[in-house]
Amino acid sequence: MTVHTIQTQPIAGQKPGTSGLRKKTPVFMGRHYLENFVQAIFDVVGAEGKTFVLGGDGRYFNDRAAQVILRMAAANGAARVIVGQGAILSTPAASHLIRLNKTDGGIIMSASHNPGGPHEDFGVKFNMSNGGPAPEGVTEAMFQRTTEITEYKMLDAHDVDLGAVGRHHLGGMIVDVVDPVSDYAALMETLFDFPAIAAMFKGGFRMRMDSMCAVTGPYAVEILENRLGAATGTCVNATPLPDFGGMHPDPNPTWAKALMDEMFGADAPDFGAASDGDGDRNMVVGAGAYVSPSDSLAVLAANAHLAPGYARGLAGVARSMPTSAAADRVADALGIGKYETPTGWKFFGNLLDAGRATLCGEESFGTGSDHVREKDGLWAVLLWLNILAVRKQSVATILAEHWAKFGRNYYSRHDFEAIASDKADAMMAALRASLPALAGRVVEGLTISAADDFAYTDPVDGSVSQKQGVRILFEDGSRIVLRLSGTGTDGATLRLYLERYAAGPEGLDRDPQEALAPVIRAAHVLAGIEGYTGRVTPDVIT
Ligand code: G1P
Ligand code: ZN
Repeated sequence: MTVHTIQTQPIAGQKPGTSGLRKKTPVFMGRHYLENFVQAIFDVVGAEGKTFVLGGDGRYFNDRAAQVILRMAAANGAARVIVGQGAILSTPAASHLIRLNKTDGGIIMSASHNPGGPHEDFGVKFNMSNGGPAPEGVTEAMFQRTTEITEYKMLDAHDVDLGAVGRHHLGGMIVDVVDPVSDYAALMETLFDFPAIAAMFKGGFRMRMDSMCAVTGPYAVEILENRLGAATGTCVNATPLPDFGGMHPDPNPTWAKALMDEMFGADAPDFGAASDGDGDRNMVVGAGAYVSPSDSLAVLAANAHLAPGYARGLAGVARSMPTSAAADRVADALGIGKYETPTGWKFFGNLLDAGRATLCGEESFGTGSDHVREKDGLWAVLLWLNILAVRKQSVATILAEHWAKFGRNYYSRHDFEAIASDKADAMMAALRASLPALAGRVVEGLTISAADDFAYTDPVDGSVSQKQGVRILFEDGSRIVLRLSGTGTDGATLRLYLERYAAGPEGLDRDPQEALAPVIRAAHVLAGIEGYTGRVTPDVIT
C-alpha cells in the first residue's frame, strides 16, 4: 500500500471553538476540508509510532470520516488506532478508552448536541493522553497549522471493516475494533452500587431514558436494562441514527419535550433522563420535578459520598463561571475546594489531573467527575440513581430538602440564536466598553456592585484566558452573564445567564422565570439586546 502526499492549500476558518472544529456537514465533506484539519492535528501532536482512539457519535459522515482518518493515521506513521465498532464511541467512552489504554490521545467525531444529517453539523475534536479536550495552546497551534498547510499524507487502501470487533491491519498500522460499551459499563460498575440500584428497579421504581436517537442508546440499554434490570422499554429512541431521527439531540426542556411531557403528566415514572448526540450531556427530571443543571451539580456534590466511588468524599467542586453558585454553597458547607472556570470542559482538565476537583459541572447540562476527562451524561444519571436508591426519596423531595438547607439559586439561560455576527459583536463591544461605569448604577430596582469581563488564571499551570464573558453582579447577590457561543455554526448565538439567590425558608418554590423577572429586565436594559439585534424573545430558555 502506498502513501500519497497530496498537495493542498489552507482553507480559511478551520479554527477549533469551545469543543473542537465544528461546521456544517457539507463544509466538512468539501474537498481537502477534513483532510487538512486532520493533517494539522497530526502535525501538531505527532503521529509516528503513536496510539490513538477513534470514534464518534454516529452522525451522518461519521463512517466515511473514520475511514479517512484511519488512512491518514496510517500514512502519518501511527502504530495503532483503537476504534469503536461501527466507528461509534460516546465522548465519555472515548475519554475512558484513551485513559484505560494509556494512548497518546484520540480523535472524536461529533458536533455534540447539534443536529446531524447531510445539511446539519459535523465536528472533529482532539483529546489529549489524559482523555480530555486539547487545551487552548494546542488547538491554537492546530489552527495555526491549518493556515500554513501545503500537503497531507494519505494511504492508498481499502476501507477497514469496522463492523466486526477484532484486529485489522492498515499498511503498517494496527486497527483494533472494540465494543464501544463494555469497558465503559465496567467503569460504571466500579463507581456505583449496582446491586442497590438493581434492587430499587426490582422494587418497582420506574424510569424513562431518552437517548434522542443518538449515541447513548446502546450504552443505556446495556447498563440500565441489561445490567440493572430496568424494565424493557425503559430506554427510548435508543438506536443511534445518522440524522438522529430528525431530532435536535440536546437534552433540555425545549428539545426533550416528549420526556418533559411524560414526566409532568399523569402516571409519570419516578425518574427521567435524556442525553445528547455524543453522550456527554444529561438532563434529569423527577416526576413533576425538573432539575436545573446547576442544581443537579449541587445535589450531586452534596450526596456523592453515597456512591461507592465517592465514599471517601470529594477533593473539590468546579463549575464554569456562568453556572449558578449553588455548588459553591455545598463546597463551603463541606469545607472543600471550589473553582470557577471559563465555559468549556477543557478548563476542568488541570483541576482533575491535579486532584483538586472531583466533580465538575456546567449549566449547559454537563456534569462529570475525575473518572474521565469529559462530562458524562450516563454517569450523572447513574449517580442520581445511586442517590435515589440510598435515600429512598423522590427527586422532588431531595430538591426541596436541598434548597431548605442551602437556599435556592434561581437560574435560567436565555439563548438568542443565529444573530448576524457583526450585530452580536457590536453589542458585546458596547457592553464591554460600558463596564467600568456600571458599579453603583441602579437598574430595575437592582444596584450593581461590580462588573467585569471574566479572566481566568489556571491555578495549576498559570495560563491565563481573557474575555470569557461579561459579568454584572448586583448587591443582592443577583448576577447577569453574557457571552457569545463558541459552538454555533450559524451566525452568532448570544447566551444570557441569569441568577438570583433566595435564602429561604420562604419563596423557595417560585417559577424561575418569574423569580428572575427583574434580573431579566435589567439585562435587556444594560446590554441593549433589542437595539443591537432586534430580538426580545429568546429562542431557547433553559
Ligand atoms: C456550549 C456550552 C458549554 C459547553 C459546550 C460544549 O458552549 O455553553 O457550557 O461546554 O457547549 O458542550 P458555547 O456554545 O456556549 O460556547
Ligand atoms: Zn455533547
